[in-house]
Amino acid sequence: MPAKPASPKAPARLSLTVNGTPRTAAPADGDMPLIYWLRGELNLTGTHMGCGKGECGACAVLIDGEPARSCQTTLAMAAGRSVTTIEGLGTPQAPHPVQAAFVAEQAAQCGWCTAGMVVESAALLARNPQPGRDEAKAALDGHLCRCGSHHRVLRAVLRAGKGEPS
Ligand code: FES
Ligand code: FES
Repeated sequence: MPAKPASPKAPARLSLTVNGTPRTAAPADGDMPLIYWLRGELNLTGTHMGCGKGECGACAVLIDGEPARSCQTTLAMAAGRSVTTIEGLGTPQAPHPVQAAFVAEQAAQCGWCTAGMVVESAALLARNPQPGRDEAKAALDGHLCRCGSHHRVLRAVLRAGKGEPS
């Protein structure tokens, strides 16, 4: 009896960690922008789509601790890495210091840009726990806010850096 032909090996699933939890995705989804997968597959809707062109910063997440624009990052580019979204930074009961400072300073209006601003600020504080005003401004320079909340955002970042109570 002739030997059965070997069945073609299925391509390996893409593996990545999201907010500390290992996840896998179909290889066919590799070209999908990370933001679509986070929102559509994992229901992590805190990350917002703004321009979709890498220009506004609304969609920022952390990849291996570094801010990245999830509209310009494919799922395949995130494979093997650790993604942190706004949901993974803290909880309402135990917020990240930046999240607490944003609340204390009321540093949002419509809130569309806020998740991106917060994760970018968290990365800044991880690099430098007490950034100065100029450093904070430079870090957030690529984040647009159509509501004009920049002054309050800046106050929140400096507040978090000083460890002021929220
Ligand atoms: S939505 Fe990604 S940078 Fe604007
Ligand atoms: S708070 Fe509305 S876009 Fe920034």
